[in-house]
Amino acid sequence: MTNNLIPLGYLVATAFFIFGIKRLSKVRTARQGNQLAAVGMLLAIILTVLDINLKANGAVDYRYMIAGVIIGSLIGAIAAIRVEMTQMPEMVAIFNGFGGMASALVGLSVVWRAVHHQMAQSHYTGALEVHTILGGTDVAVSTVLSLLVGALTLTGSLVAYAKLAGKMTGNPILLPGRHVVNVLLLGFALAVAGMLAFGSYPGITVLILCLGVLAAALILGVMAVIPIGGADMPVVISLLNSYSGIAAAMTGFVLRNNLLIVSGSLVGASGLILTQIMCKAMNRSLANVLFGGFGGDSGDSAAQSAGYTNITEAGPEEMAMMLEDAESVVFVPGYGLAVAQAQHVTKELGDLLEKRGTKVSYAIHPVAGRMPGHMNVLLAEADVPYEQLIEMDDINPEFKTTDVAIVLGANDVVNPAAINDPSSPIAGMPILNVHEARTVFIIKRSLSPGFAGIPNELFDYDNAIMVFGDAKKVLTEVVNEVKEAS
Ligand code: TAP
Repeated sequence: MTNNLIPLGYLVATAFFIFGIKRLSKVRTARQGNQLAAVGMLLAIILTVLDINLKANGAVDYRYMIAGVIIGSLIGAIAAIRVEMTQMPEMVAIFNGFGGMASALVGLSVVWRAVHHQMAQSHYTGALEVHTILGGTDVAVSTVLSLLVGALTLTGSLVAYAKLAGKMTGNPILLPGRHVVNVLLLGFALAVAGMLAFGSYPGITVLILCLGVLAAALILGVMAVIPIGGADMPVVISLLNSYSGIAAAMTGFVLRNNLLIVSGSLVGASGLILTQIMCKAMNRSLANVLFGGFGGDSGDSAAQSAGYTNITEAGPEEMAMMLEDAESVVFVPGYGLAVAQAQHVTKELGDLLEKRGTKVSYAIHPVAGRMPGHMNVLLAEADVPYEQLIEMDDINPEFKTTDVAIVLGANDVVNPAAINDPSSPIAGMPILNVHEARTVFIIKRSLSPGFAGIPNELFDYDNAIMVFGDAKKVLTEVVNEVKEAS
């Protein structure tokens, strides 16, 4: 392969990435999208190794690379096999963190190598211009930025992982004066970055300054994420994913590797778009997520449930009887479905009803659960056909003609306060209009609120019937009742 063919190969790898991302946007094509992107990545790695070898006139030592590939692949494969679907956000958090760490390490090693090389020169007289030894101001700026963004992505992601995995409190930790400390840390890191990129210093000072940027960024990552509530972590992870892409793009400038610049930018942009989509679906601004200290543990549930005046309650048997007469049923899954792991029994009930001639569909709210696509993933795991998963905008007009809506551990995403109460924290958030169905069964364990920590107007509606209990347990009983009746 010649030097000219490598950029062409990079272009092909980029096309694989872009088509891969495109295919990820639909559940039906997502698996294929993932495979396309993986092929693109394999191509990218092979081309990069060949490129390095060409530049080094064939003097590349492959031993470390092969060892890295084997160890990395083993760890990745074992982690991917062992991870539960519900632990996916934690896994992504760790991936992002490692991506950031890789960028920071590349930045550090580039500076170290250049400084070391310069200091070893016989004519070395003292002060070094980092931009000169690195080959340009652009490379110097990019190097320091990859250190900064990479390191803060690493610690921010580790905190996000710890919060999601329950290894530290999910409540916002609001340290006094945190905004001032953050501004000071960021100011320090940027000032040092500027000094490094444009000034000249003794070699040892350059290294100390780099370590200073690194230390400030590591602390900044922790400081930025600890004030955010555990339930907001998916948004933060998506943002950190974007940061890891930006850090990688910076590293691309450092290494003068176009593919890394392009793929880093793709990750940076797609992470930012996903963050934006999530914020919009929750009707919150990014600033509110990052600085609002929202979404810790739910508050006092007794206090939150007080105030309901028109609660109707039924058991699985009555629910099964109502279902026998229903011509159309819409299942509305939420976070509680994931907690109860009730996806398989939900599908079983859906199948039973379909066999009896009932029209069955599943309504998907974009932020139901705790991660993007959470409900799609759960229902796909239970082999619910894609055609039955209906997005919010498409299912909402259907509720008016639906006999029974079954809300399975969903709460905020079906709360009509979002439409009716302008002072509600979720005012304006698009919801699934289950209240328009003839009858709504709400399966949950109590009257406790969901993520937003507010009462749900729906529970008081005349057509709403609460079926209290764990979603899996209740549905199992309903399935048994329906089977007995058939
Ligand atoms: P939530 O409003 O959080 O409500 C979940 C409900 O599930 C709770 O009220 C809980 O009530 C019930 N539940 C828990 N365990 C259960 C079990 N074993 N069986 C039955 N019910 C159970 O969920 P949602 O409607 O899916 O809304 C998601 C919320 O998370 C939104 O506010 C959204 O903005 C937010 N959020 C989403 C994301 C993404 S990307 N999806 C990211 C961050 C935040 P009981 O305790 O009474 O059972």
